[in-house]
Amino acid sequence: MQALDHAHYLALAEGAEVLEADHSGNKVLRLTDGSMLKLFRRKRLVSSAAWYPYARRFADNCVILAERDIPCPKVLSVFRIAKIQRDAVHYAPLEGQTLRQIMRAPDSGDGLRAELGRFIAELHEKGIYFRSAHLGNVILTPRRTLGLIDIADMKTFRGPLRKSLRLRNFKHMLRYSEDRKWLLGQNNQAFFNGYLAAQSLCTAKELTQAMS
Ligand SMILES: Nc1ncnc2c1ncn2[C@@H]1O[C@H](COP(=O)(O)OP(=O)(O)O)[C@@H](O)[C@H]1O
Ligand SMILES: [Mg+2]
Repeated sequence: MQALDHAHYLALAEGAEVLEADHSGNKVLRLTDGSMLKLFRRKRLVSSAAWYPYARRFADNCVILAERDIPCPKVLSVFRIAKIQRDAVHYAPLEGQTLRQIMRAPDSGDGLRAELGRFIAELHEKGIYFRSAHLGNVILTPRRTLGLIDIADMKTFRGPLRKSLRLRNFKHMLRYSEDRKWLLGQNNQAFFNGYLAAQSLCTAKELTQAMS
């Protein structure tokens, strides 16, 4: 992790577009050169974020995802900005739109739902447990492949995910009612069937239970 002094941070952020912010300040900036800067608040010393900062996790997870052929942002550097008590990850965005943006369009259909089901199965088969799995963190790229952003909170395993984690991950995916409505709608089977067809560990019955 590289120290970034405050003056350099201000120069980098000059003219940036604020994509996300909360009460304690800016969270995601699109810089004037098109790259992105995601800021993480420094946590107190007792938390796990002190010994393994989220910005670092983000960068490490990018490497693992790339090795496993899952599209994701490209990390340029990881900074510590002591003055504002933030860590930051600077990255080239993954080109495309989030599924949240896309699902609001009238033509977002079953093809995409099935593709997402297969994609989640692929992540599970590849040992990727993405806890922030919701439609705002999945990107459809211009090449029509799916990829992940916001990957600080992810756990990776050498082998395929065990069943209990897969089922728990479905609960994460269905946490937001807007997502749930798009994914499952009026008993829509496309997402469900896409997932089932691409893996064999979880049965339809187990999945139905987890999603209820
Ligand atoms: N790699 C990326 N490619 C495209 N858009 C991105 C990328 N990373 C973030 N964004 C956009 O930035 C915003 C927030 O990103 P995210 O990392 O998910 O932050 P948050 O922690 O606020 O959820 C979203 O509006 C998302 O569309
Ligand atoms: Mg997000």
